[in-house]
Amino acid sequence: MALTILVVNGPNLNLLGTREPEVYGHTTLDEAMAAVAAHAESQGVALRHVQSNVEGDLVAAIQAAGAGGDQAADGIVLNAGALTHYSIALRDAIAAVDVPVVETHLTNVYAREDFRHTSAIAAVCAGVVAGFGPNSYRLAVDALINLLTTRR
Ligand code: DQA
Repeated sequence: MALTILVVNGPNLNLLGTREPEVYGHTTLDEAMAAVAAHAESQGVALRHVQSNVEGDLVAAIQAAGAGGDQAADGIVLNAGALTHYSIALRDAIAAVDVPVVETHLTNVYAREDFRHTSAIAAVCAGVVAGFGPNSYRLAVDALINLLTTRR
């Protein structure tokens, strides 16, 4: 059965392209998601995408992507934006679903302000991709495909 990956984007990522372009670049979220969807499709993987500025919506999307959820997925690429750094609710949602999650960032958060060096979610994620601009999403999809298709 073909794999399905859900990409979840959190607060302020809807503003990509105009938001602090010197930090986040000029690519819009639509452009970034179209590129990652085309890449996934070329691997025979179906990709869905959701963005919300609301923490509860992100929790709901992660829950729905879990086994038995009404939007079940095989893996999740999650750019939680600033919520990465303090959301215990997101951490608990990731821990609650039996679906691998890759924490993903456009920027290298470890080269930025100290408050971005803390992740509330990394410990319950399969891994972290950060610092490659919009290509971070593609790398995270590839990491998930590798994780889901390689016998360990
Ligand atoms: C981000 C990094 C976060 O620290 C920030 O709050 C964001 C974007 C990134 O993709 O680099 O909103 O997740």
